[in-house]
Formats: sequence, C-alpha cells, structure tokens
Amino acid sequence: MELEQVIRERYSCRKFLPNPVPRQTIEKILDLAQQTPSWCNCQPWQVVLVSGEAVAGFRDSLLAHAAGGHPPKPDFPFPLRYEGIYRERRKVCGVQLYQALGIGRDNKEGAERQRLENFRLFDAPHVALITTEEDLGVYGVLDCGLYVANFMLAAKNFGVDSIAQAALASYPYLIRSRFGLPANRKLVCGISFGYGDAKHLINGYRTGRSPVGEAVTFIE
Ligand SMILES: Cc1cc2nc3c(=O)[nH]c(=O)nc-3n(C[C@H](O)[C@H](O)[C@H](O)COP(=O)(O)O)c2cc1C
Repeated sequence: MELEQVIRERYSCRKFLPNPVPRQTIEKILDLAQQTPSWCNCQPWQVVLVSGEAVAGFRDSLLAHAAGGHPPKPDFPFPLRYEGIYRERRKVCGVQLYQALGIGRDNKEGAERQRLENFRLFDAPHVALITTEEDLGVYGVLDCGLYVANFMLAAKNFGVDSIAQAALASYPYLIRSRFGLPANRKLVCGISFGYGDAKHLINGYRTGRSPVGEAVTFIE
C-alpha cells in the first residue's frame, strides 16, 4: 500500500475475527516496526507477542482480574484529568463509540460490558505487549510510542487491523509475573491485532481530527 493510504485507512479495531495472522506476516510487521528510530538508537522496546492457546489463557485471567474491580496500577500514571478541548474530544470519542453500539447514556451496564471488552482483547487472536526499560524514563516511553505507531501502520500495510490499548497497562504486575518479565521492564501498552470484523457495528465509525491550523503555529 501507499504510505498515505495506510495512514488514512488505519483505524482502531474493536472486534476481531478469530482467524490467526500467518506467522510470516507477523514477522514482516515486526521487521518493519523494528526500523523505528529511537534516542541514541537505544531501541528500548521489547515485545511479548502472545498468540494461540496462550492468548486464550491470558484473556481469561486478565478479564477475571479486571471484572474483579481491581483499580488500575499502571507503571506510568494514567492522565489525571481531561480539561477544556481534551475533555471535549474525549467525550466525542466515547459518544461515537457508544452510539455505534446503540448503548444509551444511562446504560451503565452496557458501558461497563464494552469497557471490559478491552480485557477480552476485542477477541483478537494476537496481542503484542510493549515494555520499555525503566532507566530510560519518558524518552524510552516516547520511543515505544513511535514503535507502536509503526507497528500499527506496518500491520495495516499487510492487511492486518489493530488497536493500541492503554487499558492493558492497567495491571503490569499480572503481565510481569505471567510472562516472566523483570521488574525493570515497564509496561507501556498492548496492541491487539488480527483481522477486523467489518460487519460489526463497532468497526463502522471513524474518528475525526482537528484541522492542521489548530495544531500548528507557523513562525516565518
Ligand atoms: C497509546 C494509545 C492507547 C489507547 N488505548 C486504548 C484503550 O485502552 N482502549 C480503546 O478502546 N482504545 C484505545 N486507544 C485507541 C484510541 O481511542 C484511538 O486511537 C482514537 O480514538 C483515534 O481513533 P482511531 O485510532 O480509530 O483513528 C488507544 C490509542 C493509543 C494511541
């Protein structure tokens, strides 16, 4: 695909078909994402890529934990608050999602069910868990963010849908113990991926972006 087409057509997929992505395709995605630049070329990302029966077991334990009402304990604090334009954009994003599913404003149960879909990995057959090295601080996280973007674009290039999930960073202790990661590997986020269910309502809407003029100040 053309780069522009890849960037414009990628979207966050929230319902996947069960078909696994061939190993060869996954390796191509990983190889492209590996080309990501990083500060001093440190390449701080390490990826735990969970598939097959392992993903089923992981999904079950994560969902049970999240449904048990455990408050998130992320390695990197989630945003403290959303004010002004950020509050507005966040609201629009949520409204679009719930409208696509026909979940009304007062339907708390429906909203909670959809929140928990995060921990079911939206039925994805694969999830990539992205960690950084603690010592590299905020720039390690930034480098991993670039990796996440490149991973998702590389996936789209090979016809694979994906979604970055900060929700999966809610319980890093669970992931460290399940996959034997040392304490200095800090969880940035997960990327669930596979083939999107194009017929599902939740995959039917697209988010917008503000015009360039709202994000950029030209100084000449
Ligand atoms: C770092 C990051 C974390 C995200 N975490 C979640 C998440 O936990 N759950 C979710 O449903 N979407 C999550 N998203 C998806 C965003 O909501 C989505 O990217 C945004 O609304 C723009 O929509 P688009 O990706 O379809 O263009 C995340 C996106 C990013 C980049």
